[in-house]
Amino acid sequence: MTAISITDVSKRFGPQGTDPVLGQINLEIPEGQFVALLGASGCGKTTLLRIVGGLETATAGDVSIAGKAVTSGAAARRDALADVGFVFQDHNLLPWRTAQQNVQLPLEARRVSKASRSETGRRMLDLVGLTPAAGKLPHELSGGMRQRVAIARALSYDPDVLLMDEPFGALDAQTRDNLNLELQRIWLEKQKTVVFVTHSIQEAVFLADRVVVMQAAPGRVVADTMIDLARPRGVDVMATPEFARYTGLLREALNDLAAPALDGVLA
Ligand SMILES: Nc1ncnc2c1ncn2[C@@H]1O[C@H](COP(=O)(O)OP(=O)(O)OP(=O)(O)O)[C@@H](O)[C@H]1O
Ligand SMILES: [Mg+2]
Repeated sequence: MTAISITDVSKRFGPQGTDPVLGQINLEIPEGQFVALLGASGCGKTTLLRIVGGLETATAGDVSIAGKAVTSGAAARRDALADVGFVFQDHNLLPWRTAQQNVQLPLEARRVSKASRSETGRRMLDLVGLTPAAGKLPHELSGGMRQRVAIARALSYDPDVLLMDEPFGALDAQTRDNLNLELQRIWLEKQKTVVFVTHSIQEAVFLADRVVVMQAAPGRVVADTMIDLARPRGVDVMATPEFARYTGLLREALNDLAAPALDGVLA
């Protein structure tokens, strides 16, 4: 079944709506697929993710999640979005709440009982390897730990779709590798549909089933390719010729060097 359907979505900003930020975007994302969205700064990745997540309205076009329209009014949007989790580059944790209290926050809004909230909070922290940090405040955690809390929080209400906007962009390379491994493990366990925005070709190929490349002015999809590497993937996969082939193709697509030879590989 299709988890996310993006049909002819365009977006203009500005008082007269004259700045075309997104051209016509069309994407069908099947249930359980891990999609990485790659593109230069300013090409509209965040805007597209916000439209999919109902945080921004499209100028034209439709988005539906699990067959429910995000783009057709507030009630329908709430309905569609009950099943979406967000993780942003800036973790957005409440500074006065402990890690576990932050993880449980979405459950309070959903009126889950106190006992069930604590149980889920503990389970989610365990899933991201943060049980020992349950009682710590955000400022007592490292950047990587804070991002893990944000992932645990997004997973707490068990959404089918996870939208992630450069969640590991501000982290050092080693922490990032570790979190990529952890995210893959969680994804293999939970089989969520994921849209993951990143600037890193390496990260995209490592994590994704499918990489979508966007270019700017207006934002549009210029390449869409499946990553056929066996899972679970270890960091050693990055040293293989197959991995290098994918990163090479994607680098060319990003740099607008897509030659006719790429047709069929990057459909
Ligand atoms: N609220 C807004 N009002 C006006 N213009 C906006 C708004 N939000 C985004 N833009 C413009 O839309 C374009 C795309 O922005 P967006 O944040 O989606 O890019 P991005 O691909 O996520 O970039 P980055 O990789 O740097 O995060 C940019 O030119 C930006 O200036
Ligand atoms: Mg962005």
